[in-house]
Amino acid sequence: MNKTVLITGSSRGIGAETARVYASHGYNVVINYLNSKDEAKKLSEEIKNNYKVEVLLSKCDISKEDEVEKMVEEIIAKFSKIDVLVNNAGIAIDTLYEDKTVENFRKTLDVNLIGTFLVSKYVGEYMIKQGQGSIVNVSSTNGIDTYYPMSLDYDASKAGVISLTHNMALEYSPNIRVNAVAPGWVNTDMNKELDDEFISEESQKILVNRFANPKEIANVIYFLGSEEASYINNAVIRVDGGFYV
Ligand SMILES: NC(=O)c1ccc[n+]([C@@H]2O[C@H](COP(=O)([O-])OP(=O)(O)OC[C@H]3O[C@@H](n4cnc5c(N)ncnc54)[C@H](OP(=O)(O)O)[C@@H]3O)[C@@H](O)[C@H]2O)c1
Repeated sequence: MNKTVLITGSSRGIGAETARVYASHGYNVVINYLNSKDEAKKLSEEIKNNYKVEVLLSKCDISKEDEVEKMVEEIIAKFSKIDVLVNNAGIAIDTLYEDKTVENFRKTLDVNLIGTFLVSKYVGEYMIKQGQGSIVNVSSTNGIDTYYPMSLDYDASKAGVISLTHNMALEYSPNIRVNAVAPGWVNTDMNKELDDEFISEESQKILVNRFANPKEIANVIYFLGSEEASYINNAVIRVDGGFYV
């Protein structure tokens, strides 16, 4: 029987690549999306054509508790279990410090932090009943170090995700492992507004001199979630090509 993975925010970027990697290892995949229905459908078809796995498409705003509860019920009804949860969905609303608003700060926390908590809470209930499971939270190097005040709300949310990771690892031990990845710069839509000069300057601060491809993050997420990482728990793994300031 195939294992099942739920990847939040897997219509695009790191999440979509993570869905491909899990499918390539024989996992049934739940693709969660919010706005990018066409991308999610296309990815679902691609995965079904390339791998012998099942796919469930699930539209859900992870910051809304009723939607999260419904999504998890729907997954259990189809697959009976969730072996791995990847809390990947996230947003960033970068602005100058003086332009920061409470509304955008709350929105960022609602998706990145409360959303991660909500999905983990509802999935965690089933993992406890199953007696096994693994959770990978996608934080950021911005949640560990401070680089740019223009993303202070995002950074606070990602520092919160690291704190959640540690508390969840305690709560769910010994049978459920909880870890986090902290990526540095990654080539996804999240960074599509950056200009070439900034990208070039930032790349000089990275020992490998370039941004990551989404697959380079997805591979680490897969490893942490899988049995191959059975003795890694409560860890935060930087995947940043050796970023230094
Ligand atoms: N890119 C980077 O440089 C970088 C670095 C460090 C960490 N990260 C983290 O990595 C994760 C993935 O980022 P990415 O670069 O792949 O971003 P992305 O390309 O912008 O994709 C974001 C994904 O999150 C989903 N999403 C956003 N809000 C949602 C909500 N309320 N409910 C459900 N899904 C939602 C989007 O779904 P729809 O499009 O369907 O709405 C999309 O699939 C994020 O947590 C991000 O903070 C990224």
